[in-house]
Amino acid sequence: MGDRDSYREHFFNHNWKTGPPPQHVVDGCHWCQLRAFPTHQQYPVTIVNKTGDGATLPKNFKFITQSILTQGVRAADANFRSGCGCADARACRYDGCECLSDMLWDEEDQEPNSDDSDSEMETSRNGNRGGRPSAARAAGQKRAKFAYHSQGDKAGLLRSRYLDSREPIYECHEGCACAESTEGGVVAADGDVDDTACVNRVVERGRQIPLQIFRTEDRGWGVRTLVDLQKGQFVDRYLGEILTAREARRRRSLSTMARRKDVYLFALDKFSDTNSLDSRLAGPPLECDGEFRAGPTRFINHSCSPNLRIFARVGDHADKHIHDLAFFAVRDISAGDELTFDYVDGTVDLASDARHHVAGMTPCLCKSANCRKFLW
Ligand SMILES: C[S@@+](CC[C@H](N)C(=O)[O-])C[C@H]1O[C@@H](n2cnc3c(N)ncnc32)[C@H](O)[C@@H]1O
Ligand SMILES: [Zn+2]
Ligand SMILES: [Zn+2]
Ligand SMILES: [Zn+2]
Ligand SMILES: [Zn+2]
Repeated sequence: MGDRDSYREHFFNHNWKTGPPPQHVVDGCHWCQLRAFPTHQQYPVTIVNKTGDGATLPKNFKFITQSILTQGVRAADANFRSGCGCADARACRYDGCECLSDMLWDEEDQEPNSDDSDSEMETSRNGNRGGRPSAARAAGQKRAKFAYHSQGDKAGLLRSRYLDSREPIYECHEGCACAESTEGGVVAADGDVDDTACVNRVVERGRQIPLQIFRTEDRGWGVRTLVDLQKGQFVDRYLGEILTAREARRRRSLSTMARRKDVYLFALDKFSDTNSLDSRLAGPPLECDGEFRAGPTRFINHSCSPNLRIFARVGDHADKHIHDLAFFAVRDISAGDELTFDYVDGTVDLASDARHHVAGMTPCLCKSANCRKFLW
């Protein structure tokens, strides 16, 4: 069924005038699933296929808006959950906000005059230890700091110090006392910051951009942004079924080619530590499988010169074992450009794999100048 045909079926058979069609219709229709997204009006996800190959999304795939905890996977019990007690949300940028307690960075790490220079520290009015950087440095203090810019043109963007790192991002969440940021962010059109809303909820707020899933000529489906993106801008999470390590192993073994299944499986291993006293972190990590249930980011292709990267993001510290996977732009991206990330991101030395090219390796079609030539 071609692009136009799938449109026709949607518009003529799946009538939304009186609300969503029955669940069994939505379950079998990708258009209806996207249409049912709560952000559909503001930030729609569309599907187009202009290649003429007539392909539609896989029938066994369904769009979801939240990851699904499968059998054996549990979020933390209510009595282990906690958030920060910041009554004034401006405090959620500084040492003292419990949500930032694990984000201790030496002040010396911060380059003066870099784009990370934290002018709001000097104008902090909240009485927290958000004093002048030089004062903090003189006292040899370590100061928690938050992952985003909170003022000016770059408000809400990940600081480059973070973009260049593999540090996890800690955010405020539903268990925090600070006020949730309102729809559309905390920065008004005139650039004014809404001081009452917590700025440390960027991933928490969810995708704020329209995306398009499109049929590429040579790599199946891909994803493009329909708006310009700035370096450091949050795109969306990677969603899927959260599996126990055992279930992930079972699904790999069912797949004809383990490496093929691997592209959909992300280990939630950012906090894994065999020495951890928390058994959930000491054992083999949970994995997120986006093959059958996921959001639009599941269709993002690989590039050896990618424009996105995945960061681990934590809300409640008791849920580190099910941390989020958040895509951020690592450079400015123009509207219409395809979004890509590096599937191996330094974990496998593909360059040496390529040198020892063996039959059966999958060629990389990313076309970037520094292409490593093979996916796996
Ligand atoms: C996670 S999926 C991405 C969406 C996929 N294109 C689709 O149509 O469902 C990964 C698959 O996309 C294809 N792919 C992604 N990046 C590629 C690249 N740079 N070169 C060749 N194939 C690629 C491969 O078939 C890979 O197994
Ligand atoms: Zn706080
Ligand atoms: Zn908080
Ligand atoms: Zn907060
Ligand atoms: Zn490549």
